Amino acid sequence: MSNLKLAFRFSLLTTVFLLFSSCADEQITAVKPAIIPVPTSQEIHKGTFMISNTTNINSDAEFLTVANFLKAFIENGSPIELQQSKGENTISFVKDNSLTNDEAYTLEVTSSAITIKAKTAKGAFYGVQSLRQLLPISFENGSYLENKVPVQNISIKDSPRFRYRGMHLDVGRHFFSVDFIKKYIDLLSMLKMNTFHWHLTEDQGWRIEIKKYPKLNEVAAYRKETLIGHYSDQPHQFDGKRYGGYYTQEQVKDIVAYATERQVTVIPEIEMPGHSQAALSAYPHLGCTGKPIEVATKWGVFEDIYCTKETTFKFLEDVLDEVMALFPGKYIHIGGDEAPKTRWKTCKNCQQVIKREGLKDEHELQSYFISRMEKYINSKGKQIIGWDEILEGGLAPNATVMSWRGTQGAVTAAKQHHDVILTPGSHCYFDHYQSTKEDEPVAIGGFLPLQKVYSFNPIPKELTQEEAKYVLGAQGNVWTEYMKTSEHVEYMAFPRMVALSEVVWSSPNNKNFENFRERLEIYQKRLDVRKVNYANHLYEVSGKSEIKDGSSYLTLTTSSKKKKIRYTTDGSIPNSNSTVYSSPIKVDKNTIIKAASFDNDLKVSSVFEQKIRLHKAVGKNITLNVEPHPKYNAGGTIALINGINGSNKRFGDKEWLGFSGKDVEMTIDLGKATEINTITTRFHNGKGQWIYAPSQVIISFPGNDEFLPIELESSDELMVDLKLSTKVTSQFVKIKVVNYGVIPDGKQGAGHKAWTFIDEIIIE
Ligand code: ACM
Ligand code: ZN
Repeated sequence: MSNLKLAFRFSLLTTVFLLFSSCADEQITAVKPAIIPVPTSQEIHKGTFMISNTTNINSDAEFLTVANFLKAFIENGSPIELQQSKGENTISFVKDNSLTNDEAYTLEVTSSAITIKAKTAKGAFYGVQSLRQLLPISFENGSYLENKVPVQNISIKDSPRFRYRGMHLDVGRHFFSVDFIKKYIDLLSMLKMNTFHWHLTEDQGWRIEIKKYPKLNEVAAYRKETLIGHYSDQPHQFDGKRYGGYYTQEQVKDIVAYATERQVTVIPEIEMPGHSQAALSAYPHLGCTGKPIEVATKWGVFEDIYCTKETTFKFLEDVLDEVMALFPGKYIHIGGDEAPKTRWKTCKNCQQVIKREGLKDEHELQSYFISRMEKYINSKGKQIIGWDEILEGGLAPNATVMSWRGTQGAVTAAKQHHDVILTPGSHCYFDHYQSTKEDEPVAIGGFLPLQKVYSFNPIPKELTQEEAKYVLGAQGNVWTEYMKTSEHVEYMAFPRMVALSEVVWSSPNNKNFENFRERLEIYQKRLDVRKVNYANHLYEVSGKSEIKDGSSYLTLTTSSKKKKIRYTTDGSIPNSNSTVYSSPIKVDKNTIIKAASFDNDLKVSSVFEQKIRLHKAVGKNITLNVEPHPKYNAGGTIALINGINGSNKRFGDKEWLGFSGKDVEMTIDLGKATEINTITTRFHNGKGQWIYAPSQVIISFPGNDEFLPIELESSDELMVDLKLSTKVTSQFVKIKVVNYGVIPDGKQGAGHKAWTFIDEIIIE
C-alpha cells in the first residue's frame, strides 16, 4: 500500500488530485490539502470521505462544544444536515490520553470515517480547524450548494511548537467594535493561535468599563480630537473631532465567552505606571502634580504617569478587582513600558517612597511599583506579564516578560528563569510597513515584509536548551495609531498573522517560505470569502539595479516563479501585450520602467515603477571612510550612485543609506577627468527617529583648488536638499557629510549622536 501514500512535504503542492466520488456517475474534486499552519506530519491517501445528509457526528462528552462548532460550520456552510447516530459514515471526536501535548490532535480521514483524537478540547478544536481547511472555501460563507462534499483521505498528526501563540490589538489609540473584536478572535483561532492580548488602556483612551470609577468611562474614554497624518508631519494638525468609546463589562463577558468557544484566552492589559494619561485626565490626583490634564490627542510617550502614592495603588487594585472578575485566564498584563521618570524625580511623594523603601533610584521605584502590583495580582491567583522595561530596576519575582525592544529582554529574563514571550519590533510589529510601494497607507515606520515574519525563530540563539524552555512563544502586535478602521487593522494584520501562525505552531523542519506562499495563496481565498481586507504583496515586482562592465541593468523579480513579469519603458501601464521580462534590462538612457506580475493575461500585482537617471556617476566607483549601519545598507554603497532615488516616504528602503553618528567622507572616481556642472543629493531629516540632516557638507575636487563648504539651514521638513552648481573638470569628487552632532534636549533621542541618511549623489 505504501506506494499509494504520498509523502507530504513539498511534493504535495505540485501533485494533482483528481478524485472520484463513490457515485460513479459524478465527479467532485476534493480540496487539495494545503493546511496553514503546516502540520507536524501528514500523509495523503487515495480516496475520500463523503460528508452528506447521512453522515453522523458524535463526540465524547468533553468535546461536545467543539463537535457542535464543527456541526454548525458544516450546516451553516452548506445544505448538509448531519445525523447523530453512531456506526459507519461518522465524524467522531475521541479522547486520547496518550497524546503528550495538551493541544495536540490527530485527524484521520478514511473512506468510511473521520476521526479527530485529542487529549483536551483545545486539541479537538485544532483538529476541526485543519478539517475546515479540507472543506471548500464556500463553506466559509454558506455558499456551498451541493448536499455532499468529499474530503481527501489523510492522516494528520499535529501539535504546536509553542504554547503561547498570540495576537495583540491596541484599542486605545483607535477603538473597534465588539463585532470586529470577535472577527479578529475568530480569524486568529482559525490559525490555531490561542491568545488575544487586548491592550485596553492608553494615553489616548481608556476602553473598559470600571463601575467603581465612572469617570474612566465618562472622561478617560474620550479625547477631544486626534492628530492628522504622521507624527513627523510638522506642524502638528488636529481634526477637531471628539473621539472615543469603551467596552461595557457585559460586552467584555460576551467577547470572553466568544473567545473561550474558540479556545482563545483573552489577556487584558491595564497599563501602569506609564501610558496612563487618559486615566489621569479622569482622576488627576493619581498623578504626581495633581494638575488637570487632557486625554492625549497625539501619539508618543508622555511624562504624566501614575504617582507611587498609596491612593494610586488603591485605585489600581480596585480596577484590577473588576478586571480579574471578567477574565478567567491566568494572566493580567500590566504594561510597564515607556514610563518616563521625569515626574517621579521631582515628586515629594515618590521621593519619600524611594527613601522609605530604601530604593536606589526611580528605576527601582518602578520595580517596586510593578512588584507590589504583582503581589496583589498573585494574591488573587493570577500572574503578571509586563513589557521588557519591567526588567529595569529588578524583575518582579513571578513576572513573565514580553520582549519587544529586540530580544535582549527575553534573553535576560530567561537566564533569570522567568517565562518570556517574544514580540520583537524586528519581526512582530505589524504596525510597520510591509511593502516599499509608495502608495502604502501611512504607517508608523519600519519595514517588516511577510517573509521576514515567516523567518522568525522565537528562540534567541543566546539561550541554552535549558533556558529556551522559558520561551513560551511569540505574538504579533498591532498598535493602531495609524489604523482608524477595522479594514486597516486587517490590512496590517494579514497576511503577516498567517505567517506568524506557522512560526509559533509548526516545526522548523516543516517550514519553507516558497511552499508557505503557495498555501497562503489558497488561504487568502478563504480570507476573501470571510471579507478580510488583507494586504496582497505576494506577486509584487521588485527591482534591483546592477552595474556590469560600466553599464547599468535593472533586474526584476516577483515572488512567485509561476507568474510572468511584463514591463514597459515608455511610461505606459503594462498590460497583457507588454514585453515579457526574461533577463536584466539594460538601461542606456534616462528611463522609467513599469512592470507587473501576470497570471496568464490577468494582472495580479500592482504596478512597480522605477525611474533611472543616468547621471555621470552611475556605474563609477565610490569609496567611503565608514560603512553604512548594517540595518540601513540594504542596497550597499553602490546605492549612492546607481541612478535610482530613494523613496520619498520609506527612508529605510534599499536606496537610502543610514550612518550612525559619524562624519561620512565619500570619494567618487569618475574614471577620467569629467566636466561637472551640478552635484545634487538629499538628506532625510526624520527628527522623531533621531535622524538629522547635516548642518554642513564639504565638497572638494582632489588635484584641484576648489574647496566648497556648504552650510545647510536647519529645517523641520522631512528632507533637506543639497545642490551645488559649479564648473570644474575633475576625475574625483570628494564629499564630506558632517554629522549633525548630539541631539538637543527636549527632542527624541536627546543626548545621543544623530543619524545621517543619504540618498543618490547625482553628478551632472
Ligand atoms: C510598546 O511597543 N511600547 C510595548
Ligand atoms: Zn509621585
